[in-house]
Amino acid sequence: MCGIVGYIGNKQAQPILLGCLEKLEYRGYDSCGVAIAGKDIEVYKDAIRVKMLGEVSPKLNGTTGIGHTRWATHGVPSQINAHPHLDCSGNIAVVHNGVINNCQELKARLIREGHTFTSETDTEVIPHLIEKYYHGNLEEATAAALDDIDGSYAIIVLAKDRAELVVARKDSPLILGLGDRENYIASDVPAILDHTDRVVYLEDGDLAVITRNEIKIKQNGSDVRRDEQKVSWNVEEAQKAGYEHFMLKEIHEQPKVIRNTLAEYTRATEHPVDLLGARDTGTDSMLLLACGTSYHAAMIGKYIIRELLKIPPRIEIASEFNYYSDVLSRAVAIAITQSGETADTLKAMKKLKEAGCRVLAVTNVVGSTASRIANETIYTRAGPEMSVAATKSFTAQLMALYWLGITQSRIDARKLASLLTELRQLPGKVQQILDDEAIIAKQARNLSRFENVFFIGRGINYPVALEGALKLKEISYIHAEGYASGELKHGPFALLGESSPVIAIVSKDNTHDAMLTNIKEVKARRSPVIALAEEGDEAIEEVADAVISLPRVESLFSPVVNTVALQLLAYYTAKERGCPIDFPRNLAKSVTVE
Ligand code: M6R
Repeated sequence: MCGIVGYIGNKQAQPILLGCLEKLEYRGYDSCGVAIAGKDIEVYKDAIRVKMLGEVSPKLNGTTGIGHTRWATHGVPSQINAHPHLDCSGNIAVVHNGVINNCQELKARLIREGHTFTSETDTEVIPHLIEKYYHGNLEEATAAALDDIDGSYAIIVLAKDRAELVVARKDSPLILGLGDRENYIASDVPAILDHTDRVVYLEDGDLAVITRNEIKIKQNGSDVRRDEQKVSWNVEEAQKAGYEHFMLKEIHEQPKVIRNTLAEYTRATEHPVDLLGARDTGTDSMLLLACGTSYHAAMIGKYIIRELLKIPPRIEIASEFNYYSDVLSRAVAIAITQSGETADTLKAMKKLKEAGCRVLAVTNVVGSTASRIANETIYTRAGPEMSVAATKSFTAQLMALYWLGITQSRIDARKLASLLTELRQLPGKVQQILDDEAIIAKQARNLSRFENVFFIGRGINYPVALEGALKLKEISYIHAEGYASGELKHGPFALLGESSPVIAIVSKDNTHDAMLTNIKEVKARRSPVIALAEEGDEAIEEVADAVISLPRVESLFSPVVNTVALQLLAYYTAKERGCPIDFPRNLAKSVTVE
């Protein structure tokens, strides 16, 4: 996590860096800071948000600088632990995203050699190592310092009296933004979209020297070329466009996201991966893995693939998969990650690839590390997702999974045609839910009074229950648990009662009657029940305390409409409770540490 930025050009660096940093706060925002090279290196940093830093910091003069917004790993959020960090002389400043595994050992060695440290961070060893190796060549000193480091990093190094920035990456993202006699560096594209749409994606192991007119990239000491790419995301997509929060805007973008994603996939002539090959090699041949919300998409993917391809794929939480040694013979592995930078997912992908598996990435970020590791990539077309809570990216992931399933299924032609028709009607149905959001907001006002909420679902809507609970706890801080409905009576029943509402996700499929029974059981224990059900489902209306009626869809697609409704429920509940919706405490959008 953490966001880093750098600027070298002919404009004042400080306001540019602060503007870029604000766009990276989704990566962490517990503290921030900038360093500007003028006569000396001047640093201003604190445990405050970027906007506030802009208001309280003095004007720092200079056209070269670096900045950082932090998600703490080593040391509490504080002014001292905030980046940039300096060497002993104050002549070298560094911002870092990643984790230095051997920092204790390096720190002890540097202390023995006379260096003094001020912070509790792992990062601070980097400027001290560079200082140690610096004999007039910043690039060489940085390369030597990185040789000593075991860990992940994206760094930007600023040194006094040098008209250059040195940058490097290993297992943490870093991009260069190209301008006219100016260059930008950032953890992610949205940070620089106000200034340029020309980017270069650095590869793992790259070390680059950036001046205002030039970039020179090396890998293992030899010059390498990285192609310039034009970013298709635009500035408006990375702005709130009149919505109070990014999350609400992103929820409302979903009809467009579904349309765009389907249009793109329809245009594509080739399938990026041959899932049928996986079927032919047996039941042990497909693995889906991911973390968080993307894992819930993978769980739904399991139902889709089972239903349409008749393959029962295995699904794994990426961080758990990394401890297994017995699942490496799979023919196809599908790694789902919105950011393409989640450390646990990347580690699993590497492990699978090394074992000879064919790895397919489903990601929203062009040029992300996941897309580089994978043999093939399916891009979701959600556009930049700024809110920490994943919404439209999840829906786009489902679209990718539906498309994979539908285009490669061998179900009969009539059924297939009807599924495709339904799929194309989804944007309109989602729009209907958005148009009626006031009904959901009303339920949210009621829900916001509680401190414990259960979500229940069956079949393909069991993962939706998990996702509904994750969304609610993530942004409203209400304790929420998702359960397969049948499991509730195996323990959680002990917690039911008037103060524990249950959100029941009901689909008109073979799970309907069992859900109805479960709702009655819950009611018998006095828990208030809010049900999500298809419009006109009178049986549910009779038993639930409140029903959020949703448009009728084919059961296979019900996760889409149900999830959109639960996203709105979480959003309005959090709003009612006055939570900082786009930046939930302790969370960051891109989880680049294990
Ligand atoms: O970028 P990824 O899809 O790999 O991220 C995985 C999770 O960190 C992410 O989905 C997280 O759970 C979201 N904040 C949930 O809204």
